Amino acid sequence: MGFFSVFLCLILCSFENGFALAARDTKPHLLPHTTHTVEVNSLLPATTCSPSTKGHNSNKAPSVLKVVHKHGPCSKFHKSSKTSTTTSDEKYHAQILKQDQARVNSIHSRLHHNNNNNRRKDPLTQSAATTLPAKSGIVIGSPNYIVTVGLGTPAKQLSLVFDTGSDLTWTQCQPCAGSCYKQTEPIFDPSLSSSYKNIPCTTAACTQLPSSGLKQSCSASTCLYIAGYNDNSFSKGVFGSEKLTLTPTDVFEGFLFGCGLDNEGLFNGSAGLLGLGRSSISLVEQTANKYNRFFSYCLPSTSSSTGHLTFGDGGSPNGVKFTKLITSSQSESAASLYGLGLSGINVGGSQLSIAPSVFSSSGTIIDSGTVITRLPATAYAALRGAFQEAMKNYTLTKGDPLLDTCYNFSGLNTVSYPKIAFVFGDGLTVDLDATGILFPISPSQVCLAFAGNKDDSDVGVIGNVQQQRLEVVYDVAGGKVGFAPGGCD
Ligand SMILES: *[C@@H]1O[C@H](CO)[C@@H](O)[C@H](O)[C@H]1NC(C)=O
Ligand SMILES: *[C@@H]1O[C@H](CO)[C@@H](O)[C@H](O)[C@H]1NC(C)=O
Ligand SMILES: *[C@@H]1O[C@H](CO)[C@@H](O)[C@H](O)[C@H]1NC(C)=O
Repeated sequence: MGFFSVFLCLILCSFENGFALAARDTKPHLLPHTTHTVEVNSLLPATTCSPSTKGHNSNKAPSVLKVVHKHGPCSKFHKSSKTSTTTSDEKYHAQILKQDQARVNSIHSRLHHNNNNNRRKDPLTQSAATTLPAKSGIVIGSPNYIVTVGLGTPAKQLSLVFDTGSDLTWTQCQPCAGSCYKQTEPIFDPSLSSSYKNIPCTTAACTQLPSSGLKQSCSASTCLYIAGYNDNSFSKGVFGSEKLTLTPTDVFEGFLFGCGLDNEGLFNGSAGLLGLGRSSISLVEQTANKYNRFFSYCLPSTSSSTGHLTFGDGGSPNGVKFTKLITSSQSESAASLYGLGLSGINVGGSQLSIAPSVFSSSGTIIDSGTVITRLPATAYAALRGAFQEAMKNYTLTKGDPLLDTCYNFSGLNTVSYPKIAFVFGDGLTVDLDATGILFPISPSQVCLAFAGNKDDSDVGVIGNVQQQRLEVVYDVAGGKVGFAPGGCD
């Protein structure tokens, strides 16, 4: 009999728990308009490319480049024969997350480099043959989003990673050797171009490289650069000028770039990088006469879709709302990052209670090359708590060294999770796209795509997962950055 009543209680008590849960479900943060319900499959990349049509017929914005994921079916580097398996996907994603932390460490050290107790050692000061200022400026992350541009005469088509966190545009000018990975992409050979020039050492363009966070030296009278990175990755080479062809109608003579002779580490055979930072050497500054420091992009949500990178103001798309661009006063190279006044986070329609000083003391940048958004530890803890509360329904599973809130969605057709929005100090609220919240490692490990900084004083970073499918508009001359939904549609 005792046994039976315990059994009965097990049933009734769990019913009671069920009712308690159901009652909690009526809380505002679980109402449908505060929740995304999506098919699990839609979170994962498909095997065929479904390109976006945006921009292709646009005559208002003259310079629209197609953005693709380097490793997806929309990229020419995609090997269709190679079937992905769960373990290869998991390894690939683990690698992306590891590189992402290296990039964020590098951003943090860049923002701290004025500080004499620099916590992170700069590898370049020991390995470089030349003695250069111990200042690390450039950060390179996962080579996720690429655009194709033409360089030289005749124009060589190169697929470059575009990066708002870097200033110098560089290409690979010599076959990969030494400790770099196998060459996978065409190189740019300056001897085959009639418009290539070395930059002399005595020019202002050369002597100003350190103000863009680069190291500069001379060989004979030729200007050399090093774009360093804290994880032993770097690009070293000759500082040169070339004809840059963004689109057939948008051609720039004498564009300053790095002709990389030695590119090592995470670059992994990539053709190079398009630097969209704010210092004088960036593409944005070098094309300011034509585009007035205005560009926008949409990052596709999966590797089987495409987005765009647009230069110039073709008329802001519908519904773009702006927040003020903040310039860091910490140092010159930090000033080339895009700072925003993040002041709060909404989960499921209600704002988390986080003291505004948590965000204002760390500051926040938006970066196209960081994958996972980093928040001050205090803010991340609040976000994780609210998210896990709303996701009680699902099975938490093992995390990754970077991501600690992961769910096993295997066997489910659809899942529901709370909407998340960023709130900025000047009143703008940006709702993230449904694809901008989770990072799928595999169907059985889909993670909340946010992480906490170790140190609350380290700068927060709005990463590219959170920017997915949004139109992100940089009006640098106007001192503002804008967002609108559906930028890749
Ligand atoms: C570099 O690329 C090769 C093949 O393209 C790949 O097998 C390898 O995992 C990549 N390494 C990194 C660190 O991304
Ligand atoms: C995920 O859930 C499925 C179905 O419930 C189960 O078969 C699988 O073992 C789980 N995987 C992990 C890693 O927990
Ligand atoms: C919890 O899961 C059930 C079915 O598994 C679903 O009907 C319900 O909407 C889910 N609740 C939430 C809050 O996601």
